[in-house]
Amino acid sequence: MEQPQLSIDIDRLMARIEALAALGSLDATEGTSGPDQKLGCCRLALTDEDKAGRDLVVTWMKDLGLNVATDGIGNVVATMPHSAGTWEPGTAPVMTGSHIDTVRTGGRYDGNLGVLAGLEVIETVQSAGIQLDRPLAVAFFTNEEGARFAPDMMGSLVYAGGMPLETALTVQGIDGAIVGEELERIGYAGAGPLPGQAPHAFIELHIEQGPVLESEGLQIGAVTGVQGISWNELTITGQSNHAGTTPMSMRHDAGYAAARVATFVRKLALEFGDPQVGTVGAIDLHPNLINVVAATATMTVDIRNTDEATLKLAEAHLGIFLEQLAHSEGVTIEVRSLARFEPVAFDPDVIDLVASAAHSQGLSVRRMPSGAGHDAQMMARLCPTAMIFTPSVGGISHNPAEHTDVDDLSAGANVLLSVLVQLASSTP
Ligand code: GLV
Ligand code: MN
Ligand code: MN
Repeated sequence: MEQPQLSIDIDRLMARIEALAALGSLDATEGTSGPDQKLGCCRLALTDEDKAGRDLVVTWMKDLGLNVATDGIGNVVATMPHSAGTWEPGTAPVMTGSHIDTVRTGGRYDGNLGVLAGLEVIETVQSAGIQLDRPLAVAFFTNEEGARFAPDMMGSLVYAGGMPLETALTVQGIDGAIVGEELERIGYAGAGPLPGQAPHAFIELHIEQGPVLESEGLQIGAVTGVQGISWNELTITGQSNHAGTTPMSMRHDAGYAAARVATFVRKLALEFGDPQVGTVGAIDLHPNLINVVAATATMTVDIRNTDEATLKLAEAHLGIFLEQLAHSEGVTIEVRSLARFEPVAFDPDVIDLVASAAHSQGLSVRRMPSGAGHDAQMMARLCPTAMIFTPSVGGISHNPAEHTDVDDLSAGANVLLSVLVQLASSTP
């Protein structure tokens, strides 16, 4: 069906981004202050701040007359209602969306853009009276970040049938909280069925969170897939002892062993070369005192690669290193897998649609993989899926300074609009 040229309302989108960013804003929760518009957010999954964000977005969804459904893991899906002369009842929607939880020191665009741009697209389509052959739906998925509860992408993983709901509900977070109890507490343990209904297609708009688009002076990324992710938690157990009296040769120092792991992970990534990356983002020492050799270290290792075989090799090298380290330092090292996802390739037709929508709007575009994990990688198990990236200033993300210029946000949302309308205008 021939569609008139439509365009989203960037002021309306920015107003919603601003209003959502005010909930759990870092100056409110972390004592930072100042007029910096780039101040970010702390809305860790299933906290009071996340609840406040959820409530606000659900209000907006209801204001648009959408059917809002919450499932057992707290994912919220808002779907255009059926009306006479449109699609058949029960027609699978074309879905968009992302997440509204953030890391503890997060930005205001990571995830939030994809949800609020989806809402903006629906409002644009509804206001213009555009007739579609399928409904549009916008979702926010629970605990995409994985910063409080592992694994990341938990809500979309359960939606796609990749993890039983019962397993997800028992996951314990870094603060001891349990997913199921927190969902009940904030009122988002819904009744919607899981796994969820397979959409006709899924498309997610997200900031790039890396430096590629900006450094090449490009406006849009047509995302070809997401790299594989391996997360492990290590518990290193040595022996606490007196820092002044214990000879260096007699120590079983968990702190030193943790430092060796961090150094090894970095060296491994550099030796494997691009696109291998490796990060030790959290280390917790006990008893964490100046004059006591550390008894235990709990730490995380995040390694990623676009190639599954190479990622497996990196995991194997890490395993060998840990065995040798445990032996040489007289410590024990327990390894607990927190998340393991293979690389995902998106649907070639949906990727092409993103690229052609960008071209037809006069935007520069390149095809690129995603370094970050996304809900789209889980939805790709259910239906043809791809993503749209917009540039990140300085390649900065998971940082309150995360920023994307308003013209780029607008361009990304307009590409999302075009892709969603095209996907919902073709039958079957
Ligand atoms: C999610 O943001 C991840 O890629 O860690
Ligand atoms: Mn994200
Ligand atoms: Mn993130």
